[in-house]
Amino acid sequence: MDQKSKIINNYKKKINFLKKHNKLYFNKDNPEITDSQYDDLKKEIFDLEKNNSFLKNLNLNQTVGSPPSNKFKKIKHLKPMLSLSNAFDKNDMKDFLSKINNFLNNKNKDIDFFAEPKIDGISATLVYEKGKLVRGLSRGDGTTGEDILSNLKTINKIPQKLEGNNIPHLLEIRGEIYIGKKDFNIIKSNFANPRNAAGGSLRQKNSNETSKIPLAYFAYGFGAVKPMVFKTQSEFLEKINEWGFSTNPLSKKVKNINEIDLQHSFVDSIRSTLDYDIDGLVYKVNDLKLQSRLGNTSNSPRWAIAYKFSAEKAVTKIKDIVIQVGRTGAITPVAKVEPITVGGVVVSNATLHNEDEIKRKDIRVGDTVQVQRAGDVIPQVVSVDISKRSKSSKKYIFPSKCLCGSITQKEINRSTKKEDAVRRCTKGYDCNFIAKEKLKHIVSKDSFNIDGLGKKVIDQFWELGLIKTPTDIFTINYNELKNLEGWGELSINNLKQAIDKAKNIELSSFIFSIGIRHIGQENAKILASFFKSIEKFINLFNETKRKKILENLVELDGIGKTQIDSINNFFLNNTNVEIVKKLIAKLKIKDFISKNKKGKFSNKIVMFTGGFEKMSRSEAKSLVENNGGKISGTVSKKLDILVIGNSKPTKRKIESAKKLNIKIVKEIEWYKILNL
Ligand code: IVH
Repeated sequence: MDQKSKIINNYKKKINFLKKHNKLYFNKDNPEITDSQYDDLKKEIFDLEKNNSFLKNLNLNQTVGSPPSNKFKKIKHLKPMLSLSNAFDKNDMKDFLSKINNFLNNKNKDIDFFAEPKIDGISATLVYEKGKLVRGLSRGDGTTGEDILSNLKTINKIPQKLEGNNIPHLLEIRGEIYIGKKDFNIIKSNFANPRNAAGGSLRQKNSNETSKIPLAYFAYGFGAVKPMVFKTQSEFLEKINEWGFSTNPLSKKVKNINEIDLQHSFVDSIRSTLDYDIDGLVYKVNDLKLQSRLGNTSNSPRWAIAYKFSAEKAVTKIKDIVIQVGRTGAITPVAKVEPITVGGVVVSNATLHNEDEIKRKDIRVGDTVQVQRAGDVIPQVVSVDISKRSKSSKKYIFPSKCLCGSITQKEINRSTKKEDAVRRCTKGYDCNFIAKEKLKHIVSKDSFNIDGLGKKVIDQFWELGLIKTPTDIFTINYNELKNLEGWGELSINNLKQAIDKAKNIELSSFIFSIGIRHIGQENAKILASFFKSIEKFINLFNETKRKKILENLVELDGIGKTQIDSINNFFLNNTNVEIVKKLIAKLKIKDFISKNKKGKFSNKIVMFTGGFEKMSRSEAKSLVENNGGKISGTVSKKLDILVIGNSKPTKRKIESAKKLNIKIVKEIEWYKILNL
């Protein structure tokens, strides 16, 4: 055996050993080696990797940086912890600004933003009652976190008792926990990167272990606050700093695209001198009243964005081009490249987006290309260096068939009337590749949200024939898992619990989960509010009833012809209907309950025509929705109120509403209703 193979063998042995002991420690809570033996093992692996760079390319070591413990108590956040949408360049930021201005119908004034470094750490929430720290939670899934209070208390800069004036009785503070770069250097032999180390440290069962790793944090936001004593984000940070919290000194007020860009370049230029990792800046509308007017979309606030620093780039060679099939049948070409490190991560696959993109850039197997990785986004091939191309290279011919052998096609976009750039498999669940991706969607966070059943596990269970259709998830034979590598009694029990819990699903999440094209989370909610119960929803299975229902759907704001055709196509397919029927039989699907029943527009259907002076149509709509009402796109008997804006209302709509005796509200009265 040559030297290299010996090293690889030794390395593989150690990794397997580590995996075994991780499982004993984290899943079974029954360690067989001492902590220091465990640490030595991690250090040996780290040293081997450091001295033999080829080992990293084997991609075997996904375990360094303690895997999460399941031991923590789950507690609901007082307010959900949302995520942020991303901007990658100046144009994305311009879009963000104009969306905000449009929503607020703001034409002249510059809006103040507060720019804060986006710390690359682990987020946590601290709850103070009467100034005393009473709870400390991890983010978890955003709605429910884990009780990590005793670990958070080891961070000495987190105040346990607040001192100062005007402290609210209830104060939920959000912040990012990190390990300083200098501190990380001392302990780095045990961890892959600082973020991993911070995460691992926070998830120790024994807070003495946490205290050995020097954690720090910056507070950046709030959840529930009673009474509300802040008017702006900058004032909030100033006050909490006085009360004893660490806040980031590089935060700054900015007010237009130029100032935004300047601040961005400035912080980027000093980034390497900071003692913590940042991956961009977060820009937040400073005025909290405006924040509240802007509100949130499904997962992220409209009033904030993470503007990432430019993507890291590297040059490598394409070894092969393969295709991948997504859950909607989209065929994505992927370049298999010579493994290369881009911004600290080894990249061996990079997306080529679609057929048109390959044609436009004339990308070929063997080409030398530039690859970029921005944030958590999939790495992509950005350009080809034609000068390095060999004479014998041939144009890449895009496969005409899906991996399942079926024909593929490009659809015609309804609004542009042009052919789509994306080629799709024409099958649904009948294509094995689509079916597997659909399963991954079904178990994902915004669908059934099954902990412990991630993409990798679906791949594993699919290969073993344990899960082939959505129903199989709920009829899984847990005995069969016992003999599988990586599955112990505890993890099987956890999975069983997660699956049982998932059986009680909201109607909107269910509709989203079945994966009808063009029905995303927002549309699924709109449909759930229309159908109200699964009993009504299943009328879609019947062709005659479906036709009638689809005619009525036109009235729903947000549901257009594209969505209606797509729903129809979905239920025209018998396999889809069978799969959905069988799935429903295993579940308890909750009726839709409108969240804000007691609002001003409870159970009312409202429609708008014409523009308003003080607000945009989007804001008017979200005001109605946040107050229990629904928006209609057409005048019908069911409509309760037609609101007429002064700017260019449609006469025909007003006349039809009058004929049907529908309440008509003019712009001035509209403001009165809203107390504006
Ligand atoms: S504000 C609703 N500000 O980034 C908006 N987040 O993708 C909440 N983060 O989960 C986020 N530094 O863990 C905000 N100055 C900052 C931040 C920050 C880091 C993290 C945070 C959040 C994630 C959002």
